[in-house]
Amino acid sequence: MRVIVERDLDGVSRTAAQFVATLVRRKPTCVLGLATGSTPLGMYAELVRLHREERLDFSRVVTFNLDEYVGLDASHPQSYRTFMQRNLFDHLNIDHRNTHVPDGRALDFDVYCERYERMIRDEGGVDLQVLGIGTDGHIAFNEPGSSLGSRTRLKTLTNETIRDNARFFGSEADVPRLAITMGVGTILESRQCLLLASGEHKAKAIRDTVEGPVTAQVTASALQLHRDVITVVDEEAGRLLERRSYYREVEQAQTLLRSGRFGQAQ
Ligand code: GLP
Repeated sequence: MRVIVERDLDGVSRTAAQFVATLVRRKPTCVLGLATGSTPLGMYAELVRLHREERLDFSRVVTFNLDEYVGLDASHPQSYRTFMQRNLFDHLNIDHRNTHVPDGRALDFDVYCERYERMIRDEGGVDLQVLGIGTDGHIAFNEPGSSLGSRTRLKTLTNETIRDNARFFGSEADVPRLAITMGVGTILESRQCLLLASGEHKAKAIRDTVEGPVTAQVTASALQLHRDVITVVDEEAGRLLERRSYYREVEQAQTLLRSGRFGQAQ
């Protein structure tokens, strides 16, 4: 796992946006896996800026979001569809038909979840999956104890997640108890993962994810089994990483390699 420690959330957002933008330029028909939450907001703002100022073209990009609350209509102010429209899709030249967010009001969830998986496969799979992380180490809504082979399905949210997300709803009682979410197995099939975290409250989850054992109790730790994961954190979220100085050395060596000056540094 590659670990990049930035000074603050601004740095995380810019670096993350560069990874996405590089892919979109290299493969204009790429499939992006997208996440909600406060962490990727700065990255989305930077992508909007790159679209406006540098004509980053999303016209042929396809997106799949990780999850959605069950029971919320797409037009609900707190639905993840609304979040994506407001913070990203409405500001890009993306084709609405190419943007997919799970339907929290599906009539038959088993059938719908299978269909969501099939849609991802039919588009050729996710090229780059953006991920945030819950304070309990979950990715998407794969709460502790989720199977590391799980597929898109319904998941009951933990009290910790409900508490964490109550800030968007006004009160804990208003947070839906169920969500439809890509599974850990679904996420692991994407070609590359970009895990973002910011703030002291994410430090333990990040340490457990990067340096702890692979365990269903911290579903993000399954990313250790993936061959191409880039974790971008700020100083605070990376505070508990024991090998952080090594991660910095790796990045410095990579920079030297790219500039062709590696031999001189030895
Ligand atoms: C929710 C989402 C996750 C997200 C997490 C962290 O649980 N389902 O995908 O990673 O929140 O959100 P934030 O970035 O606001 O801390």
